[in-house]
Amino acid sequence: MENHEMIKNRADKEREEGMGNFAKKRLIHGGDYNPEQWLDSPEILEQDILLFKKAKVNEVSLGIFSWSMLEPEEGKFDFGWLEDIINRLQDNDIDVILSTPSGARPKWLSDKYPEVLRVEADRRRNLFGGRHNHCYTSPVYREKVGIINRKLAERFGSRPGVLGWHISNELGGDCHCDLCQSAFRGWLKQRYGTIEELNRAWATTFWSHRYQSFEQIESPSPIGERDLHGLKLDWRRFVTDRTVDFVRAEVQAIRDGGSVLPITTNMMYFYGGLNYHKFAEVLDTASWDNYPLWHKGPEPETAAEVGVYYDIIRGICRKPFLLMESCPSSTNWQSVSKLKKPGMLLAASLQAVAHGSDSVQYFQMRQSRGANEKFHGAVIDHYGGEDTRVFREVSQVGEALEQLSELAGSQVKARVAVIYDWENRWAMEDAQGPRNKGLYYQETVTKLHRSFRRLGLNVDLPDMEQELDQYSVVAVPMGYMFRRGLGEKLKNYVEQGGHLILTYWSGIVDDTDLCYLGGTPHGLMEVCGLRSTEIDGLYDWESNSGIAVSGNSLGMSGEYQCRHLCDLVELKGAEAVLTYGSDFYAGKPALTEHRYGDGIAYYVCADFEEAFYADLCRRVALSAGIELLWQDLPEGVEVSTRENAHGEYLFIQNFNPSVVAWNEIQNQWQQIYGEVSEELPGFGTKVYRRR
Ligand code: GAL
Ligand code: ZN
Repeated sequence: MENHEMIKNRADKEREEGMGNFAKKRLIHGGDYNPEQWLDSPEILEQDILLFKKAKVNEVSLGIFSWSMLEPEEGKFDFGWLEDIINRLQDNDIDVILSTPSGARPKWLSDKYPEVLRVEADRRRNLFGGRHNHCYTSPVYREKVGIINRKLAERFGSRPGVLGWHISNELGGDCHCDLCQSAFRGWLKQRYGTIEELNRAWATTFWSHRYQSFEQIESPSPIGERDLHGLKLDWRRFVTDRTVDFVRAEVQAIRDGGSVLPITTNMMYFYGGLNYHKFAEVLDTASWDNYPLWHKGPEPETAAEVGVYYDIIRGICRKPFLLMESCPSSTNWQSVSKLKKPGMLLAASLQAVAHGSDSVQYFQMRQSRGANEKFHGAVIDHYGGEDTRVFREVSQVGEALEQLSELAGSQVKARVAVIYDWENRWAMEDAQGPRNKGLYYQETVTKLHRSFRRLGLNVDLPDMEQELDQYSVVAVPMGYMFRRGLGEKLKNYVEQGGHLILTYWSGIVDDTDLCYLGGTPHGLMEVCGLRSTEIDGLYDWESNSGIAVSGNSLGMSGEYQCRHLCDLVELKGAEAVLTYGSDFYAGKPALTEHRYGDGIAYYVCADFEEAFYADLCRRVALSAGIELLWQDLPEGVEVSTRENAHGEYLFIQNFNPSVVAWNEIQNQWQQIYGEVSEELPGFGTKVYRRR
């Protein structure tokens, strides 16, 4: 298995050489297409290709959920229909991303081998139905998937026009069957060696939950063990490892079939169940399915939230990613199926590209006629023609991507990192700590991310394992769990001149959720010049404030509101920049600054409003020597850059529905996309290039 260093080296090498990218010659425009649902209507399939051409669709993803049509009976394969459609697409210069069919299995498979069906946490085995309803451990399931993957790879895996592999579809969930239980025990044995060590790491003496052997361990369950944090955390890690291992087995079968094409799997919108960073071990490129609730609230808010996720996904393989799915109009599974207003599709699609996507892909190309997703938006709907609003807007996206074609493979470089870590999130959610009704981790990450983005800066969101040397500023919001010696890494980072923003509720526990002894933030008390002594949870209706200390070194002024959590710190060298405005800790530090080695550590004591982060991030960025081209971006306007051998590309996007005044920018930038005018139209995008 590759360790972190090896993954990093491989990623660096591939990035330099543009290897492992799906988009070789152009940005990809297409999406999920299921021609197998239309084999009895060849005229529709022909019509589809004509319409794809008109909408400048240059790719379709095939084979997603197609198993029962590819292997209608065990061992009897029918790839003829797939061959036909791939040939016709190729004749029309439409590329293919080929999926492995493991996202849903045929009936014969679960009838003959019931072990492939998933067992839920309450220990009940599911019946056939739905999708993602299978055990990732089952040898039979792995074997059957392996056989069909290899055959698909042998037949299609070296074709010109096949860009790469889409493994399964939105892997997720867990299985509690006997096979998984025993795999879990094996995993724990490897991790801890002895049962004594596991008992220590999980603190099982508490409530007399000690184990005498690994054989006694069972996965967490609503009818059994549900309070042992170490067990729950390790179960989630195991589920991630199991899923990654399942992907690894799928990939192996493809390689055994002789295909060397790049590999991806599509990750789910805001999904918390898997640590996606771990998938870097088995993927060439990360891809993401984006289904935001546009028009539920103000569009700039939605855009800012989505931006966080794009930047997380880009960081997984640390190179251009794919927007594997998005909806051309409305979904049919959200509580309200809201249409995208005119222009929204284009803006949302180009946002993906601005953040480093090499594709804009949809679910789905043609709306299915029956079953669960018949009313889900599609490029071609039941009407079947091109004279629809959605089709016209999809065509506009196609035109834009064609104009921006040279961006394929270009990189996003960032000097700022905000650490986002799934395992930290899991541990914190479970912790039974200062505020069980909501800690607002995600929101705090978003506030920091957005505050840097509003300065026109690209932002990376690495996890705790990634290297930090390339960043001028690193923010660690709520780093509750200091995994893998994060404290040590941050200490070196500051010592060598880095600017660190650390917040309350950081450095509290180790990798197995055991509390650090001897004071917190663990390993960084000296660096931050303080010790956290107590933390106050606030009711929803309570608030406090941070008031600027006059003459503070950061030049902050005024008062900022804070809520939810207030950390009380004792200074040991740090200087207070803000102090609390009320309660028994009025006058105590609320934001501090401390020089350490060649760098500076800032400690944010409370959950402050965004205006605070906006000010703090600007001052810290300037103090770290980052040149800010945009100190005053209008609300709702986003700036992003990508670069490649041709030069640097600048995206200016207006997520407001209304026009925003916009001064054309310096002449070294040449506009290559969008209206040339002294304004940014509602949902408008301009792209510039600088050589
Ligand atoms: C995705 C899934 C697709 C389709 C889509 C509908 O999560 O991968 O297959 O179901 O949602 O929005
Ligand atoms: Zn299982």
